Amino acid sequence: MNTTDTPIEQWADRVESVLEALESLGPLRVVVLAETASTQDAALEFDREKQGIVCITGRQTGGRGRLGRVWADDYGLGVSMTLGLRLEPFEPHLPLSVGIAVAEALSGLGLDGNLGVRWPNDVVDRETGRKIAGILIERTAAYSLVGIGINIHQQPADWERAGIPNAISLAQFGVYADRLDVIGQVLGCLDERLAEPADRVIDDWMRLDTLVGTEQTFMHNGGRISGVVVTVHPTSELIVRTKNGVVSLPAATTSLLHGS
Ligand code: BTN
Repeated sequence: MNTTDTPIEQWADRVESVLEALESLGPLRVVVLAETASTQDAALEFDREKQGIVCITGRQTGGRGRLGRVWADDYGLGVSMTLGLRLEPFEPHLPLSVGIAVAEALSGLGLDGNLGVRWPNDVVDRETGRKIAGILIERTAAYSLVGIGINIHQQPADWERAGIPNAISLAQFGVYADRLDVIGQVLGCLDERLAEPADRVIDDWMRLDTLVGTEQTFMHNGGRISGVVVTVHPTSELIVRTKNGVVSLPAATTSLLHGS
């Protein structure tokens, strides 16, 4: 928790009024929890009928990330939220829409030009590659849990304590935001981005890409492939120049190896 934040007792009302003004996201039930292990699990628990929910916590003690990683926010310094949504049909570009929406929301809070996306949908500092936000989408049939974690108030000592050297927060850019304002911005941007067609999302995503031209290691078919990224077609293939030639890696079965 941080003294610049609106008290958590006021979050639910404000989020409800933000949602009322949106065009395509709602109606969604709003659940705000002072503390929970993971908003992914809490969202499912509070939305058993799968009608639609926004579940937000002030402090997440057992957050999870993609590929079995941990997402730590035990001290309540970031935004941890999950939207339970009927995204039908679930199209491959939807995870990209979420990444763009989060990048845009943070850009609107003062980071314009600083941020990019790292395939598939990490939001990172363009200059250092440090991660400011991560997205986890878990699906069962037509219902998707869209988990969003954003680093807001953390300082370098917080990353040292958590053993996460490759992360960065809004505060480290000199932006001191109220977590509730960040949540409101993210919901507004999601409302617009989730309604957009695939071609527009993919074009915008490619403009934010930070991998092209960099040396990376990918996992594919149980093996590691390292080289310079030539092109990222985020929903179809990644083209990499390795020391043995240029290879095309299918997006659906490839993952990026990195530190956080
Ligand atoms: C990643 O970068 O690997 C994804 C991180 C996703 C973290 C968010 S925080 C809210 C939601 N609850 C979780 O347990 N995880 C997601």
